[in-house]
Amino acid sequence: MKTRKRDSELVYAGKVPETSILENTVGAPLEPVKRFGGTKGWANMLVSGENMAALKTLLEMKREGRLKNTDGTRGVRLVYIDPPFSTNLKFKGKKDQLAYEDKLAGAEFLEFLRKRLVLLRELMAEDGSVFVHLDSKKAHHIKVVMDSVFGEENFLNDIIWSYGGRGAKHISSKFSRNHDIILWYQRSSHIFNRTFVGKRIKKGTAGFREDSDGRWFKTSPRGDYTDKSISALTKEGRVYRTKNNTVRIKYYLREDGDWLIEDKLVGDVWDDIPDAMHLGESEKTGYPTQKPEALLSRIIKTATNEGDLVLDAFAGAGTALAAAEKLGRRWVGIDSGRLAVHTIEKRLLTVKGSKEIEDPKKRYSKGPSPFTLFEAHEGGCAHCEEPLVKSDYSYDEDTDDLVIKIKKFTSHARSAKGRFKNFETLSTVMIDYDFDGEVFNLCGFFTARELEGKGYEIRFPADKARGEIMVIYSDIFGNEKWFVGEVLAHG
Ligand SMILES: C[S@@+](CC[C@H](N)C(=O)[O-])C[C@H]1O[C@@H](n2cnc3c(N)ncnc32)[C@H](O)[C@@H]1O
Repeated sequence: MKTRKRDSELVYAGKVPETSILENTVGAPLEPVKRFGGTKGWANMLVSGENMAALKTLLEMKREGRLKNTDGTRGVRLVYIDPPFSTNLKFKGKKDQLAYEDKLAGAEFLEFLRKRLVLLRELMAEDGSVFVHLDSKKAHHIKVVMDSVFGEENFLNDIIWSYGGRGAKHISSKFSRNHDIILWYQRSSHIFNRTFVGKRIKKGTAGFREDSDGRWFKTSPRGDYTDKSISALTKEGRVYRTKNNTVRIKYYLREDGDWLIEDKLVGDVWDDIPDAMHLGESEKTGYPTQKPEALLSRIIKTATNEGDLVLDAFAGAGTALAAAEKLGRRWVGIDSGRLAVHTIEKRLLTVKGSKEIEDPKKRYSKGPSPFTLFEAHEGGCAHCEEPLVKSDYSYDEDTDDLVIKIKKFTSHARSAKGRFKNFETLSTVMIDYDFDGEVFNLCGFFTARELEGKGYEIRFPADKARGEIMVIYSDIFGNEKWFVGEVLAHG
C-alpha cells in the first residue's frame, strides 16, 4: 500500500493505524441463503450483516478476482454510502418498525466511518469513485477524514443536494436547513459522464427570441471572447447585436410544442431533485431516511458506465441498488438491519423499468432481478422474533394444484393500539418449489396486497414441486418464519 507524505495529521481519541484496520479486521463468511433468479456468471449480492466484516470478505473476493466489472476490471467502480449522520435518533418505518439507531458521536463516529472508508478505498477500482452522503453537521469533519484516507488530491466535489423547501418555522432563529452534502473522491482517476438537465421555458418568455430561420435562442454577454472568436461566431450566425450594437452570444434551444428546452450542464449544486417526502407512491418503501432514486441515478450515471459495479455498504431501503439495477449496473448492497434487508428484497423483486429512469434497453421490464442474499455470519440470532403463522397445505384434485391457505399471521410486536390484527403485519410470501436443502431459490413471490386479493390462498401446479418445498413468510419488520415440507404422492 502506498503511503502519502503529509504536512498535517488528523488526531482524535481512539484512532487506529490503517495497517491495523486492513490486517486485523476479521472477515465474516458470506453464506448464500436465498437466490432470486438466474445465477449464471455474475449475480448481484445483498449482504445481511455488519459492514466492516463483510467489506473485509469482499476485499478477499477482489483479490481472488471475483469482484469485477463487466469489462473485467477488478474492484468496485462506484461506492455510494449514506451512513447514519450521528443524529442520536432512532429511525422507524411507517408502521413504527425500528429500522436502526444512530448513536455514535464525536471521535467514535469519525473512527467508525474512517475504518469503513479505508476498506472501501481498497475495494475500489483504480478509476473508482466514492460518494459519501452527509449533512451539514458532520460533512466538514468527514471531509478531513476523507482527505487523510484518499488524499486531498483525490477530492473531486462537495455536491450540495438542495432538496427543496420544507418551509422555515416562524419561530426559527436561523435559516432553515434544506440541503445535504455529498463528498466525491476518486481512488486515483475517475469516470465523468456529464449530465444535462432540460429546463422548460414557455415560448414568448422575455429574453427568448425566434431567429429568422424559426429557431429559438437566448443570449448571454460576450464575456472574454476575443475579436477573432467573435468573427468566427458571426460566420456561424451565433452573434446577436442589441439596439446599442452590443455583442451578445446566441444559444439555440430545443423545442417541444409551446415549450423551449434549455439543456443546462449540471454543476455541484443539485436543486432539481426533491427529497423523499415528495416521492411517487410506487417509489415509497416506508423505510426512514430513504433517498430519491433520481439522486442515485444521477450519481451512478455520472461515475459509471453500463455493466460497472456499484457498492452501497449502508444500503437502507436499497435506493442505490434499485437505481443500479434499472441502469444495467452490477451491484452489491450491505445492511445490518433486518427491516432494511427485507425492504431491499421486496423492492428489488418488484423493480420494473421505470418512467423516471432512462432504460434504453428495457432489460429490466421482465422478471425479478437476479441476486443472492448472503448472511454475514458473526453469530447472533438472525430471526429471533419469527411471526406466528398457521397455514394449511393441501392438494386440489380437480385442478391438480398444490394449495397453501394462510389462516393466521401475527407478529410479536404490538402496535400503539395493542396487538396487530390478523394479517396486518404480513409483508411477503416467497416459495421455492424445489428446495435443495441449503439455499432458498425463489420460484414464487407474493406481496400481502396480492394475497389479500386471493383470500390468502396460493396455488401452483403440483408438478412444479419435485422435492421439498420451502415457504418463507415475512412480516413488515423483516422477521421471517419458514416451512420446509416434502410433497407426498398425490393424484
Ligand atoms: C441512512 S440509512 C441509508 C438509506 C439509504 N441510502 C436509502 O436510500 O434508503 C443508513 C443504513 O445504514 C445501516 N447501517 C448502519 N450501521 C451499519 C453497519 N455497521 N453495517 C451495515 N449497515 C449499517 C442502517 O441499518 C441503515 O439502514
